[in-house]
Amino acid sequence: MQSDPQRYTVTAALPYANGPVHIGHLAGVYLPADIYVRYLRAAGRDVKFICGSDEHGVPITIRAQKEGVTPQQVVDKYHALIRDSFVDFGVSFDIYSRTSSATHREVSSGFFLKLYNDGKFVEQTSQQYYDEKADQFLADRYIVGTCPNCGNENAYGDQCEKCGSSLSPTELINPRSMLSGNQPVLRDTKHWYLPLDQYEPWLREWIIEGHKGDWKANVYGQCKSWIDQGLHPRAVTRDLDWGVPVPVPGAEGKVLYVWFDAPIGYISATKDLLPDTWETYWKDSGTKLVHFIGKDNIVFHCIIFPAMLKAHGEYILPDNVPANEFLNLEGDKISTSRNWAVWLHEYLQDFPGKADVLRYVLCANAPETKDNDFTWKDFQARNNNELLATFGNFVNRAVVLTHKYFGGKIPARNELTDFDQEVLQQLSEFPTRIGQLIDNYRFRDALAELLNLARLGNKYLADTEPWKLIKTDESRVATILNIALQITASLTTLVEPFLPATSAKLEAMLQIEKTAWYAAGNPDALPAGHQVGEAFLLFDKIEDATVEAQVQKLLDTKKANQLASAPVTPAKENVSFDDFSRMDLRIGTIIAAEKVAKTKKLLKLTIDTGLDERTIVSGIAEFFIPEALVGQQVMVLLNLAPREIKGIESQGMLLLAENADGSLALMQPGQQTRNGSVVL
Ligand code: MF3
Ligand code: ZN
Repeated sequence: MQSDPQRYTVTAALPYANGPVHIGHLAGVYLPADIYVRYLRAAGRDVKFICGSDEHGVPITIRAQKEGVTPQQVVDKYHALIRDSFVDFGVSFDIYSRTSSATHREVSSGFFLKLYNDGKFVEQTSQQYYDEKADQFLADRYIVGTCPNCGNENAYGDQCEKCGSSLSPTELINPRSMLSGNQPVLRDTKHWYLPLDQYEPWLREWIIEGHKGDWKANVYGQCKSWIDQGLHPRAVTRDLDWGVPVPVPGAEGKVLYVWFDAPIGYISATKDLLPDTWETYWKDSGTKLVHFIGKDNIVFHCIIFPAMLKAHGEYILPDNVPANEFLNLEGDKISTSRNWAVWLHEYLQDFPGKADVLRYVLCANAPETKDNDFTWKDFQARNNNELLATFGNFVNRAVVLTHKYFGGKIPARNELTDFDQEVLQQLSEFPTRIGQLIDNYRFRDALAELLNLARLGNKYLADTEPWKLIKTDESRVATILNIALQITASLTTLVEPFLPATSAKLEAMLQIEKTAWYAAGNPDALPAGHQVGEAFLLFDKIEDATVEAQVQKLLDTKKANQLASAPVTPAKENVSFDDFSRMDLRIGTIIAAEKVAKTKKLLKLTIDTGLDERTIVSGIAEFFIPEALVGQQVMVLLNLAPREIKGIESQGMLLLAENADGSLALMQPGQQTRNGSVVL
């Protein structure tokens, strides 16, 4: 570990611009990175905080295909949404760039070209699946087929989601292209590979020897197991039409592999931020480089990107890669495709002005050493018990009492008791203690210490009871409130990395500015006679009904997912065309509808069939309001033999579609159609 760097370059994983960001992103990567950077700034360090959107690769093109839009439209939409969420949650990047920028294209092609010219790549031709109809090579994710291990018919070319095994496309039985549905064929294609095997001895020394006990156990363990299994050459180009074109002859239709270009995005973003001095932040050995990521990114940031930097030769290497584990939501893995997430932009719609509450809960419960669970109950409890009852309550009491007894002017301290001295002593130790924990990436423990400072303040007031002493010993009360207010001033500074908006509120309430980090324990931060502002509540209570509504929202999602995955009714036996054409299917219009007395499900409908007006009894009363049906066009089977239902003769049948949950939908022509038209 570098002990006293001259400057810091701190990066946070570039999120794919293929969906909004959720609590898992914030807890795992962006919040710890932001706390770290805000602390470094408060400690007077030179630091640049770098991020941006990852806009290339198959995750983007797949999303575009799903939404029926172009990849560019996908990244434009989500880049803006993600960028705004980070602003709203106070994630204080010095730059939030994007990998579709011109700078990035230039920097990443230049990087590739240097490695190419220096002979750092090996060229290799291999066979890959090609879709002759769509006229393109297929990325692994674009190939589906039967899993050789479990028989799942919809396994992907890189993985079977049913049994979890990783696959290569050629292992799939009956492969199909997701683009055309056709069976793909194998074709030769040439790619450039980074020979990671050649970097193995160096990686072993740098990580396994060099960062033992220094990198987090989860990170170190994953790296060691990768290296111990043996490293292999890794393709850094792809056949795809979305990405940074490979800048060498004979590479038409090829782009840089997204995991080659994306980490270079950290460098290009720094160049966008500092066109003249960016190199200092990437090439000077006095710079400490730290990558904040989630655990699925470990191999890319600890092995592949460092090997790229090493191959290039001019760059520094990361000093640390503090990756977190995953955050679950109410006991289930967070999933974008299953909509199992708390989306940051939706949270702020439901909890306006409460970004700090989520920051607090996610940091207090961060998955630093193992996967963790977010629950709305815990969210409520931490807000009500910790933020409101401990932190907010202490500040409020100190400020309110100062107004009540001293007109809001900070009273001077008089003689100190042993207890006073001990409290001031403890206060002075907090900045160093919290700072060291942050320096060591232990953000949960750091936040717990911050809360301990608020607890110390609460206990000090509870034990000294100024509200009782005021009648007999005003000079003692002056000392007590002076000390309590010094604690609130320290909190203003020390809370800032964690809860920046709360820190700003404290500044407004106390009419002060936060100090430099290590000045925060100073017992004389607030001079006697300083006028503080009116007290107001920093946090408010979160009621049961509020969190129950959030839980209900999740239950609804669960139900929708179950419905979506319910099996479709199997196919029936074939019928002849003659059999089919014996059915007289027509378009008609409902001209009257009423409930059939004493039944729950039945409606009596009058239909204008173009030939006549006739009565049809249909079991749809649970799903439609009679009045709303009048005027609707529908499909009817005219020549179903009439039958009597509840004493009414039903002359035909209404055609309906049944959803997985048993609800019904009308079959209607896609446009206004003449009554009596034949359905073919
Ligand atoms: N987009 C990737 C993900 O969301 C992370 C890219 S990090 C970078 O998993 F280093 F490549 F930029
Ligand atoms: Zn399988």
